[in-house]
Amino acid sequence: MPAPMNDSPLDTTFDDHDDSTPERGHVDLRPWFQTLEDVGPTLDPQTFFAQPAPLELDIGCGRGLFIFKSSTTRLDTNFLGLELDFKEGRRAARRLARREQPNARIVGGDAREVLLKKLPAGSVTAAHVYFPDPWWKKKHMRRRLFTDQFVELLSRVVMPGGHVHSWTDVEDYFVVIQGLMDHHPEFEKLPPPPEQEATSDDDYHTSFERRKRQDGWIIHRGLWRRK
Ligand SMILES: C[S@@+](CC[C@H](N)C(=O)[O-])C[C@H]1O[C@@H](n2cnc3c(N)ncnc32)[C@H](O)[C@@H]1O
Repeated sequence: MPAPMNDSPLDTTFDDHDDSTPERGHVDLRPWFQTLEDVGPTLDPQTFFAQPAPLELDIGCGRGLFIFKSSTTRLDTNFLGLELDFKEGRRAARRLARREQPNARIVGGDAREVLLKKLPAGSVTAAHVYFPDPWWKKKHMRRRLFTDQFVELLSRVVMPGGHVHSWTDVEDYFVVIQGLMDHHPEFEKLPPPPEQEATSDDDYHTSFERRKRQDGWIIHRGLWRRK
């Protein structure tokens, strides 16, 4: 296994505003950042992390605030971030690598491929999809992540009793997400979590939640349980 980026192994910070961090594209961040190719044909959740544990997904994890906070505070759970944008995914992975975080990994590539082909059915206890890209223009809306097929993929990987969390500031997209999730026979709607008061910059679930709430947007929160 390549040496971790050990400039500060005890680094506990998550400087989300640190845009100055150079993209050290040549540094091998494995196992914290892997491509779909690195992963191979299947991803075995029992051996992919330092130890087997219940698995949660962060789909479209961006620069990884949620996965950083969750994995460092909930050591009894493994967290897998899926991110199409390698630059953002590597940024998330660098923070995990610096801490040699044993229970978090980022895979760069299309999350749908991981859900469809790589993960075993029923292997996930929770899937988090925070602030999926809204694709505002009408002609681009078909690029949105939430479709019938995507919800079908969620129902494949989330185990019975497991959860799907999805939040967005985009009301019309939330209506679509709710419609798809509420009408899927394998999911039941649960009351959404209440908004937590933020007393510091770190009191947000994700970078987008922080940005949108600080800009005054209402956040729509959805929670469903796999039957
Ligand atoms: C608006 S950002 C939100 C990032 C993060 N969840 C947050 O709340 O701060 C949406 C992210 O989803 C990623 N994304 C979009 N489609 C994806 C896909 N099919 N697979 C994996 N990631 C995807 C984008 O690259 C982007 O980083």
